Amino acid sequence: MKKALIVYYSQAGQTERAVEHLARGLGRAVATDLRRIEPDEPFKFPWSMRNFFRAFPRCVQSVAPRTRPLNLRWVDYDLVLLAYPVWFLSPALPMQGFLLSEEARGLQGKTVITVATCRNLPLSAGIWMKDRIAALGGYFAGQLAACELTPLWASFVTTPRWMLTGRKNAFWFFPAAGLSDSDFAQIEATAAGIAHAWAASNGDPARLPVLGSNLNRVSLLMMDRIGHDLFFRPWSRLILRLFPKPGLGQDLLLVLFRMSLVVLIICGSPCIRIFESSVRNHPSWIRKLGLKP
Ligand SMILES: Cc1cc2nc3c(=O)[nH]c(=O)nc-3n(C[C@H](O)[C@H](O)[C@H](O)COP(=O)(O)O)c2cc1C
Repeated sequence: MKKALIVYYSQAGQTERAVEHLARGLGRAVATDLRRIEPDEPFKFPWSMRNFFRAFPRCVQSVAPRTRPLNLRWVDYDLVLLAYPVWFLSPALPMQGFLLSEEARGLQGKTVITVATCRNLPLSAGIWMKDRIAALGGYFAGQLAACELTPLWASFVTTPRWMLTGRKNAFWFFPAAGLSDSDFAQIEATAAGIAHAWAASNGDPARLPVLGSNLNRVSLLMMDRIGHDLFFRPWSRLILRLFPKPGLGQDLLLVLFRMSLVVLIICGSPCIRIFESSVRNHPSWIRKLGLKP
């Protein structure tokens, strides 16, 4: 059995912490190497409001930065994990940059598991990863998604506050932002399960455990797909067609985008919640809307 490789990007540190737990879990049965993706273009944390929204059209239309070579010896690995944060329902730009680089061609023939960390919407990003891995000739074995389990109304405030100020502490009646200690412990336990199954499988990806998200809600899966395909895609295309480079024109259009996003959330969320309660969050709907290998 060859080694496992984790290639990851982390900006605010949450994915990096998840990767430490992944490596610890995998390490119980499989030797594991880690490599961090470094984009040529820096993404400063915390974000300014302007830079945060300027990343939106690029994330959705895959205008990704170049990444520094990782100088990987792909022959050493047969199982690869790609860990990334979700940005605007898409993989973070540096992860997209890596997967669009020449070096990523080494994924051909490898079994690949993706690991998303996010607030609560990892589905469309996982579909982008799955399609790209298939285009590179890799075998997509599933996505492990770590979502925040705090109430949605709370993370709607605490996650943007963290991204824009760097502060993730609890305040007033809001809980702390980000994944909890038990979420990280769950990542480690899942990784240990993957490693044991992989070590026993003789490299057969069909014998890996079924992966999924820790937050399976019909309403969130629908918001993710509808938001991405019917709202983020047309807006990002329009913005980059009219103003391909960042500047005043793009910023003005992004103000309109933000206003329409607020309207969409206020009007769309209750409708989706009503639909969710009418289908009683039934597992068959989760399966229909979910990310299958
Ligand atoms: C620019 C930006 C956009 C984001 N968009 C989403 C999103 O669409 N859906 C989501 O669930 N989380 C979103 N998040 C939250 C991050 O995915 C989440 O906090 C992630 O775990 C941060 O990982 P890191 O600390 O490794 O950078 C976004 C964060 C940033 C910075």
